Amino acid sequence: MSADDLPAMQLNTTIRPHNYYRNAVEKHWDPHEIDLEADRKGASELSEPAFEGLKRSLALFGAGEESVTEDLAPLAVVLEDIEDQMFLTTQLYEESKHVDFFDRYWREVVLAEEKRRGQELSSPTDERWFNGPYDELFERNERAMARLLDDDTPENRARAHCHYHLTIEGILAQTGYYGLTLAYGENEPELPDLPGLVEGLKLVRSDEGRHVGFGMAKLKLLVSSGTVDPELLRETVDELVPLVQESLTGNGGASTESGPGPTPSDLADYAYTKHEQRMRQITTASEKIPDVEELTELEA
Ligand SMILES: [Fe+2]
Ligand SMILES: [Fe+2]
Repeated sequence: MSADDLPAMQLNTTIRPHNYYRNAVEKHWDPHEIDLEADRKGASELSEPAFEGLKRSLALFGAGEESVTEDLAPLAVVLEDIEDQMFLTTQLYEESKHVDFFDRYWREVVLAEEKRRGQELSSPTDERWFNGPYDELFERNERAMARLLDDDTPENRARAHCHYHLTIEGILAQTGYYGLTLAYGENEPELPDLPGLVEGLKLVRSDEGRHVGFGMAKLKLLVSSGTVDPELLRETVDELVPLVQESLTGNGGASTESGPGPTPSDLADYAYTKHEQRMRQITTASEKIPDVEELTELEA
């Protein structure tokens, strides 16, 4: 039966937010089902600086996931369509699972390895893992999202999507996950494999593809309808990109020249390419927003 023959139904099942919602339901995964046995062995083979680098990366991602979980709700308050609400419900649930995954990894791999090494047990919330630009980036994201509750304008929605979906999820997280996956995957002979971590990151990234796609589609609509000037998007993201770069590669950032995985300049290039590609897909009418699979591909 074609959609034209149907009476009015509750849901519009032909639109992106509904498809993403369904995709989320079908791809459900449990962070506690990932096998971490091989990771405990892998962690025991890490040099002390590499172990320290791994902990920093895990702490940064864990804290980032916690922040985005806490900061998403204002968007769910202002968006009215049921399909958007249903999608955001899956996103909030998924961000919670991402926090859960990193917390569990710290408990079951990091703490176990610290005990084995006879070290003092460290906390993923210790301030030493985070640099100033990283804190600043997440504080700005929180403000951009919370502003929707007081002043829900198209411009403020655009700013919120630019902070949350384009910059934090689309550039910072995807670049970081790219670096971490390469470092601890099978292609890096210098380091032991951490297959549970790589598996978890793959699942997190697949979820993130939907989140980024949702935000991009909202931004594209604001721009293509003439409601928001694309210049606002560029300005907003351009102000945040230096903070992303410093979070990833600056002093106390996620990547170091001597550390495992891609070098800081590789990561900076990757982040820049992602940023340009996304902006083009949003602001050029003839460009399509890639499908979920493409949004989560490892290579640029
Ligand atoms: Fe996430
Ligand atoms: Fe996300």
